[in-house]
Amino acid sequence: MVDYHRHIQPKKGVNMAAIHVDEESGCVSIKRSRPKLLFFLTFCSVLSCCLIILPSLFSSPVSTFSLLYSYEGDDETLSDSKGPLCSSVSNGTICCDRSSIRSDICIMKGDIRTNSSSFSVVLYTSGNISGDVTTGGNEPRHEKIKPYTRKWEPSTMATIDELTLISKKSNVSTTENGHKCDVNHDIPAVFFSTGGFTGNVYHEFNDGLIPLYITSQKFNKKVVFVILEYHDWWIMKYGDVVSRLSDYEPIDFNGDNRTHCFSEAIIGLRIHDELAINSTLMKSKKTIEDFHDVLDEAYWPRIRGLIQEEPIVTLEPEKPEKPKLVIISRNGSRAIMNQDLLAKMAEKIGFTVEILWPDKTTELAKIYRSLNSSDVMIGVHGAAMTHFLFMRPGSVFIQVVPLGTTWAAETYYGGPAKKFGLRYIGYEILPQESSLYDEYERNDVVLTDPDSVNDRGWEFTKKIYLDRQKVKLNLTRFRKHLVRSHLYIMAKRNQVRNHPVLGVSSG
Ligand SMILES: *[C@@H]1O[C@H](CO)[C@@H](O)[C@H](O)[C@H]1NC(C)=O
Ligand SMILES: *[C@@H]1O[C@H](CO)[C@@H](O)[C@H](O)[C@H]1NC(C)=O
Ligand SMILES: *[C@@H]1O[C@H](CO)[C@@H](O)[C@H](O)[C@H]1NC(C)=O
Ligand SMILES: *[C@@H]1O[C@H](CO)[C@@H](O)[C@H](O)[C@H]1NC(C)=O
Ligand SMILES: *[C@@H]1O[C@H](CO)[C@@H](O)[C@H](O)[C@H]1NC(C)=O
Ligand SMILES: *[C@@H]1O[C@H](CO)[C@@H](O)[C@H](O)[C@H]1NC(C)=O
Ligand SMILES: *[C@@H]1O[C@H](CO)[C@@H](O)[C@H](O)[C@H]1NC(C)=O
Ligand SMILES: *[C@@H]1O[C@H](CO)[C@@H](O)[C@H](O)[C@H]1NC(C)=O
Ligand SMILES: *[C@@H]1O[C@H](CO)[C@@H](O)[C@H](O)[C@H]1NC(C)=O
Repeated sequence: MVDYHRHIQPKKGVNMAAIHVDEESGCVSIKRSRPKLLFFLTFCSVLSCCLIILPSLFSSPVSTFSLLYSYEGDDETLSDSKGPLCSSVSNGTICCDRSSIRSDICIMKGDIRTNSSSFSVVLYTSGNISGDVTTGGNEPRHEKIKPYTRKWEPSTMATIDELTLISKKSNVSTTENGHKCDVNHDIPAVFFSTGGFTGNVYHEFNDGLIPLYITSQKFNKKVVFVILEYHDWWIMKYGDVVSRLSDYEPIDFNGDNRTHCFSEAIIGLRIHDELAINSTLMKSKKTIEDFHDVLDEAYWPRIRGLIQEEPIVTLEPEKPEKPKLVIISRNGSRAIMNQDLLAKMAEKIGFTVEILWPDKTTELAKIYRSLNSSDVMIGVHGAAMTHFLFMRPGSVFIQVVPLGTTWAAETYYGGPAKKFGLRYIGYEILPQESSLYDEYERNDVVLTDPDSVNDRGWEFTKKIYLDRQKVKLNLTRFRKHLVRSHLYIMAKRNQVRNHPVLGVSSG
């Protein structure tokens, strides 16, 4: 799979073909009420079914290739470089931009009414708008859309609810009787799904929150979110972030059968790149740092609360604080086997070390608090690396890259971290630093040529490199990165400019 991407990627500059079922965290395990359990069972079975389907999907690069690119308009629209289509939509019309291979988005303006029992959103037109597509006789016009940002993954999209957008001529007499509004909104709606891979923190940010920010920030919180495949746990987990994007209670589309009326609606989310915002595509010129600021505002009230609950510690005066290093730990696969020694070494170099064991139930505000106050984050490639978004730009992020994960580590986290403004170091381990070293012959391709193993298919990548590889860092080799990071942080603190200590290196 990895190599397959490498072939495709330079060709079109599109790098999202991976089915990122990466983590064991594909199946979610937050404690919650019983009806939800059913959902999670379904969700997990859907995922495992994806896992079965995917290999076959990706074992035939040719068909997948055509599948990927049959969506494109031309290279320009593919990368949205002309600016979004449908940027001006006139009253009484629906405009759908299906030019991106990542997501479709439709914009409706006029007399818009939801009908959740039929999974539809209806736009009633007065019936004499001239020169418009809606004036093709009395036939209602239908657009179908799945408001999720992984359009190029058919097996994922198969799990997403489809909405039908209907443009209908209204008849004064039926308008009065048939479809009155139960709830009138004088602000726009943004419709999106929290289904699919929601449940994995990488996907929650990449497929959900960042696209939601991209799509909705222009409304300056005067917007209602209408959520398909709504989950209470998602609202609990991300409520503080969502409330920084909208002043209004989100609507559970499937669970709320009232007719909600709007004069403007966006169905689907725009997405730019992996964990990134391309500011040239934003009218407001917002960047991923602005998204980070939203997180900061979102988590601050909770963090302030936590601080107030704690006993006041009197800091030793005059003593400069040591740089702080956070290790994002994993148990089981991709754990760092000599983490304790790593922590001791870091302390000797001059860091204060904090070890985090984030899991599904860890409160994000607490992770944010740890990382926002840190200078260096170390972790082994995996979904938890998404938390680099919680660091302050200018900090150092060292991603330990196990065998066979080089492409994914760079594409999903390394590249995005650099765009975000972190000092990024991708530490690619040597075969001797992998637990696989003890399991395979020295000349086995698993150790000598991971690309060729990845080429055999996703199931090999997953089974060999992701699910059962641990890391035993060569601390002699790793040390120099910590020393340099320490120097860099101290230099930054001393406001020394252009200190050339840290480049991007793979050690
Ligand atoms: C941002 O989008 C513009 C316009 O599509 C494109 O030319 C540019 O390469 C993109 N930048 C990044 C960093 O992807
Ligand atoms: C848009 O059209 C609806 C009916 O389709 C009408 O009620 C509304 O006043 C129009 N709004 C604007 C701004 O023209
Ligand atoms: C919603 O759609 C269903 C099926 O098309 C229809 O029977 C029902 O009358 C609609 N409800 C409203 C309030 O328009
Ligand atoms: C078309 O709309 C105009 C106002 O926009 C109205 O005066 C006229 O009566 C409408 N014609 C029909 C046939 O509904
Ligand atoms: C409007 O509704 C009336 C009564 O229900 C019906 O007789 C008429 O044909 C309808 N007109 C249109 C254009 O649908
Ligand atoms: C909407 O749901 C409520 C409660 O689930 C139910 O009592 C009501 O009959 C439903 N209304 C319609 C129009 O389906
Ligand atoms: C994050 O750190 C910055 C700089 O120390 C601080 O100003 C900000 O309040 C912190 N944010 C939160 C949410 O704690
Ligand atoms: C991982 O193991 C550590 C140490 O044994 C433990 O404290 C932590 O709770 C575990 N974390 C998870 C997510 O299982
Ligand atoms: C660790 O790395 C150092 C420096 O790169 C090297 O000299 C040494 O042989 C390595 N140790 C082991 C056990 O592989």
